[in-house]
Amino acid sequence: MTKKIKIAIQKAGRLNEDSLQILKDCGVSIDNGRDQLKASAANFPLEVFYLRNGDIPQYLRDGVVDIAIIGENVLIEKGTDIAIAQKLGFSKCKVSLAVPKGTKYESVKDFEGKRIATSYPNTVLDYLSKYGVKADLHIINGSVEIAPNIGLADGICDIVSSGSTLFKNGLKEVEVMLKSEAVLAVSPKIDSERQEILDKLIFRIKAVLKGRD
Ligand code: PRP
Ligand code: MG
Repeated sequence: MTKKIKIAIQKAGRLNEDSLQILKDCGVSIDNGRDQLKASAANFPLEVFYLRNGDIPQYLRDGVVDIAIIGENVLIEKGTDIAIAQKLGFSKCKVSLAVPKGTKYESVKDFEGKRIATSYPNTVLDYLSKYGVKADLHIINGSVEIAPNIGLADGICDIVSSGSTLFKNGLKEVEVMLKSEAVLAVSPKIDSERQEILDKLIFRIKAVLKGRD
């Protein structure tokens, strides 16, 4: 029996639909919906695992899954050791610093000694340290943009896509730390048989992306 390649896909959230769509466009049809955490492709040696975004880098590292569709921003935060096989061109976003609209802001140095709420501590620390700025990070897992309004922080760092979450919470983007999109990431532990399956999948993905241009 041929081996199957295991792919991690975001369980719920912004990448989920587009991830399944690109597989579909590659002619890989996945049997079921999102109720189960695991699914198989009928016509390609592939198994899908629906996982939480933040857990995916560790699963790749451990070789629990062979590949994943994940935001580059998550790899930059938690998986700089994990290779990217292919950029996928969707779920484009920025990871930015923002402050309340009324705050006077001149440069990143204004964050010195300030409290920043974020789910991306490594990304923020890296960015600030380039400018020699030290801030006080408050790590929270979601609804980060509310932090300044409830007095928890002076500013935030989070993903900006349309910008509407910033706008609704009375915040303004002041620093774009990085730009991100969905990527196909590969486990350092992938074996040669599964690497061959991956090569076939990448071949199809490239054709699909070309057609989308
Ligand atoms: C994400 C992210 C931002 C928002 C950005 O949050 O954390 O808050 O989307 O998108 P926008 O610029 O288009 O408004 P999400 O809604 O996924 O929820 P969470 O923060 O609670 O995880
Ligand atoms: Mg959010």
